Amino acid sequence: KKDIRILAYESSCDETSTAVIKNGREIESLIVATQIKSHQRFGGVVPEVASRHHIEVISQITKEALAEAKVDWKDIDAIAVTSGPGLVGALLIGVSAAKAASMATGLPLIGVDHIMGHIMAAQLKDEIEYPALALQVSGGHTEIVLMKDPVHFEIIGDTRDDAAGEAYDKIGRVLGVNYPAGKTIDQWAHQGKDTFNFPRAMMEDDDYDFSFSGLKSAFINTCHHADQIHQELNKYDLAASFQAAVVDVLAHKTIRAIKAYQPKTFILGGGVAANQGLRERMSLEIDRLKNKPKVILPELKLCGDNAAMIGAAAYNLYQAGKFSDLSLNADPSMEL
Ligand code: KG4
Ligand code: ZN
Repeated sequence: KKDIRILAYESSCDETSTAVIKNGREIESLIVATQIKSHQRFGGVVPEVASRHHIEVISQITKEALAEAKVDWKDIDAIAVTSGPGLVGALLIGVSAAKAASMATGLPLIGVDHIMGHIMAAQLKDEIEYPALALQVSGGHTEIVLMKDPVHFEIIGDTRDDAAGEAYDKIGRVLGVNYPAGKTIDQWAHQGKDTFNFPRAMMEDDDYDFSFSGLKSAFINTCHHADQIHQELNKYDLAASFQAAVVDVLAHKTIRAIKAYQPKTFILGGGVAANQGLRERMSLEIDRLKNKPKVILPELKLCGDNAAMIGAAAYNLYQAGKFSDLSLNADPSMEL
């Protein structure tokens, strides 16, 4: 059987990335050009700045991905690209590059959903057995996703307001932590104790949805109140208390979904899947279940945005015959 090699692009937010993926499982090359430094002084991602950076590097990192994989265009079987969701101007750079490459080479084009990509980072680590269930937590999304096979996804739980990563970044700002704040708050959390007892929203509700805006407000009010009375709060305890509340809610709802749907595999995906507290807690709670699904926690460097995960998801679409044509467009609010 012939190997299938996919050249993938990702440019939905603040990383421009290219990769060559063999058979949906093997990373032959992965280039990630991060722009974080350019956005940090603004405290978040500035869309125009992101688009400009993507344009500046995308041709160069296309060549680099082929060179690092030691392949040529003739060795590639398809070209994949994140077509949504994300920042429209940022997405357009990747989509245009992929369409141009497809037109020039005659290779088939595959538009990939960014969320499907995050979940398929797991496929680069281990074999996913279906049905599978994923907790997809990133800067823009917090979802519980059910997969009956590699290309059919159903969202069974979602956030009503802020995404988990967004909440980390917002409280990080209050603590003076640079964007994106998740990694630092995670490290601080391990040096503190859950002393503040922040609210855990919607724990008793009969669904799989989340809400993080109440937690964020409680956190900000606590800090402002302490400021007013000139009280010094311990930043490690604040981080530990915030993280305990986030992880409690994510774990509680996800375990309930696993019990209800009995998946064969559980996947943690998205930028917040790099969170040590969440990784440990999910592993521990699943280990306690009677009917344990296999657990796949993607490699830390594949939790954030990257083109390898897009290449992995594209391979599944390739196998299912789900190709795009040159009318493919960026869709900032694309739904799974
Ligand atoms: O998936 P991602 O790279 O971009 C989106 O698609 O949104 O996720 C970025 C988010 C940021 O909000 C960042 O603060 C968060 O992931 N993050 C973390 C950790 N590492 C990154 N949040 C909690 N703990 C971490 N270790
Ligand atoms: Zn992402």
